[in-house]
Amino acid sequence: MHDFTITADDKPTLYRDLAAALKGLVAGEPDPIANMANAAALIFESVPGLNWAGFYRNVCGELVLGPFQGRPACIRIAFGQGVCGAAAATLKVQRVDDVRSFPGHIACDAASVSELVVPIVRDGHLIAVLDLDSPDAARFDEEDEAGFVALAAVLGRSLAVLL
Ligand code: SME
Repeated sequence: MHDFTITADDKPTLYRDLAAALKGLVAGEPDPIANMANAAALIFESVPGLNWAGFYRNVCGELVLGPFQGRPACIRIAFGQGVCGAAAATLKVQRVDDVRSFPGHIACDAASVSELVVPIVRDGHLIAVLDLDSPDAARFDEEDEAGFVALAAVLGRSLAVLL
């Protein structure tokens, strides 16, 4: 049994503890779906203010829904489409304070207002994107971005097997 209870008053501590817990969860486990599933659960349990946390995998140049926590979501997203597709096409983090003003945003859950999408890259190749949604406007700041980029780096090292 894994009993990770992560609570922290400040974001640097929260994300440092999360990265340590994630490293422990994925250590020695090569299965990418299992690792993404545990990562989604860990993030959703530990980070306040989220209504969706999960993955879209790069399957032959198209984003396909992976393990997540939250409401059922769109299954396939083209590169370049919406916030996730923008992250996949550019390999750049997308931090959007209000998705309603993001051109092409895909509204899987009408409750989502702000969104952070972090590409997971290994050896220059996009493996997946980590997608976080919040019902609060501007939920994600630079500290959240840095924290999730660090988590994506842990996952990039652990998701060696292509999905
Ligand atoms: N809103 C996303 C789609 C994925 S859902 O939020 C889970 C987007 O525009 O890429």
